[in-house]
Amino acid sequence: MNILVINGSPKGERSNTYRLTQAFLAGIADSQGEDAMEVRTIETSKADIRPCLGCFTCWRSETGTCCLHDDMASVIESRVWADVTIWSFPLYYFSVPGPLKNLIDRQLPMSLPFMEERSDNVGNGSHPSRYEMSGKRNVIISTCGFYTAEGNYDGVQSLFDHMCGRNNYEQVLCGQGELFRVPELHERTDAYLQLVRRAGSEFARGGIARETTEELGQPLFARQTFEAMADASWGISRETGEAEDEAISFTRQMAALYNPASFDGTQRVLEMDYTDRGVSCCIVLGAEGATVVTDGSVSPTTSVHTPYAVWQEIAQGKVSGVDALAQHRYSVTGDFDLMVRWDEFFGDGGSAAARRNAEASASPARQPTMLAMLTPWVAFWTAMSISVATGPAIVIAACALTILWSFRHERVIYDTLSLAAVLVLVAASLVGVPLALLLPASFLVFGLMWLVSALWFTPLSAYYVKGSYGGDKALQNAIYLQTNRIICVVWGITYLAAAVSALLAPAATPLISELLPLPAAVFTVVFQRWYPAHVARG
Ligand SMILES: Cc1cc2nc3c(=O)[nH]c(=O)nc-3n(C[C@H](O)[C@H](O)[C@H](O)COP(=O)(O)O)c2cc1C
Repeated sequence: MNILVINGSPKGERSNTYRLTQAFLAGIADSQGEDAMEVRTIETSKADIRPCLGCFTCWRSETGTCCLHDDMASVIESRVWADVTIWSFPLYYFSVPGPLKNLIDRQLPMSLPFMEERSDNVGNGSHPSRYEMSGKRNVIISTCGFYTAEGNYDGVQSLFDHMCGRNNYEQVLCGQGELFRVPELHERTDAYLQLVRRAGSEFARGGIARETTEELGQPLFARQTFEAMADASWGISRETGEAEDEAISFTRQMAALYNPASFDGTQRVLEMDYTDRGVSCCIVLGAEGATVVTDGSVSPTTSVHTPYAVWQEIAQGKVSGVDALAQHRYSVTGDFDLMVRWDEFFGDGGSAAARRNAEASASPARQPTMLAMLTPWVAFWTAMSISVATGPAIVIAACALTILWSFRHERVIYDTLSLAAVLVLVAASLVGVPLALLLPASFLVFGLMWLVSALWFTPLSAYYVKGSYGGDKALQNAIYLQTNRIICVVWGITYLAAAVSALLAPAATPLISELLPLPAAVFTVVFQRWYPAHVARG
């Protein structure tokens, strides 16, 4: 497949639109294979293509030769060579940029001068092609600056209807085009580029599917979010027209990403204190949206003290916010809950992709449950203490039931280890090992499981509570892991102590097994809130 890309952006390869075009080409390659395609690119910003003089010399010449001797002859040669022409350009004043319009005008030699009826009801006349162009395909790929492409491309579509024939070209038109060069938003724009890639693949197989076109038409961000970000990006105050500190514009763009649906009635004011610039401003998070206050008239509930460059790195995804916090590159004072729930407040809540991810990770059924791990142990300690005769049957039944209902949840290694360990203990009881040995052994194994997981692997508890901390992402969170590591060590030591006590004072075992976990439970509740906030304060 011969493909000609006409890049009509004055920015050349730095063009937003060109990113979409590259993704589209990658999609064609996915379906055709790189070897089956040859790509030529014309950069209108670099090519020597002068405006048409309107002299009709080309139409008077038998060969259609233009009187201007510039790069246009080779453009026409490439147009005829190409099976597919991709017109990649930004929308300028609801039309194509000037140099691209020059190129389009200079295609006059591609037509013969004679008058011809059109069969597709576009306009009221046409000219026959000088070259055999039937079967050639055209694609428009374009970005524009408003929040949606809808309604902005009437002029362009009319032009291409005349040039290629109505419904005789495919199109990828995207609003919010300037967002493609914002590294902080790459998650969303990458998802869109993936979609463009899919469109390219479908195009190579016949045509872009209707669902893909519909998805491509969805705004990258909700209108309000986008427009607030766009307004803030100029670094000029809308009210005064004066230039603002870059850090304040940056904060305004961050505030634009606030998701008002996350408002739960609690008044939250986030202070961004850029320590290296001596600039601080507050974002008031309300039910209607976020407001940036720069005059110090509100009191923060949470303050982030950070060098500006560090916060930019975090926003661009170069370093995770949690890792930077763990490395003390910034600190947080006040209510730490806002930081824990950051993605809820400032995640890309408005986009369809984010909604899908949120739905997937919010599905409680797919999270592991600690009950699956605990039930066999609790059944063993309770049933065996009541009766060594009937206990094993009850424990085996409890294990079987646990397997059945826990299939609704994600199972983790500690569920399986617990089941296996308890069944071995039951088997030992059935062959006559006394309960006085089995109970301390069970505490020992249970405690070791917590301890070993904390010291050498992902801490056991981290799996079971990750659902409340953003799902699997939490397992990459250094502070979350460290908090759980310490909690697991405490539980591990608690049950090792229980094992020793049960061995030394078997009569007191029921009391020990009930009382010892209490301090560990209290510690867990307090520590899981205190420790992350303590690290955050630096
Ligand atoms: C001179 C000029 C005119 C523009 N006219 C429009 C317009 O009419 N409608 C629109 O939505 N965006 C308009 N834009 C915004 C661009 O289409 C948008 O920034 C696009 O993403 C730039 O793409 P590029 O990086 O590929 O050049 C205009 C931009 C410039 C510089």
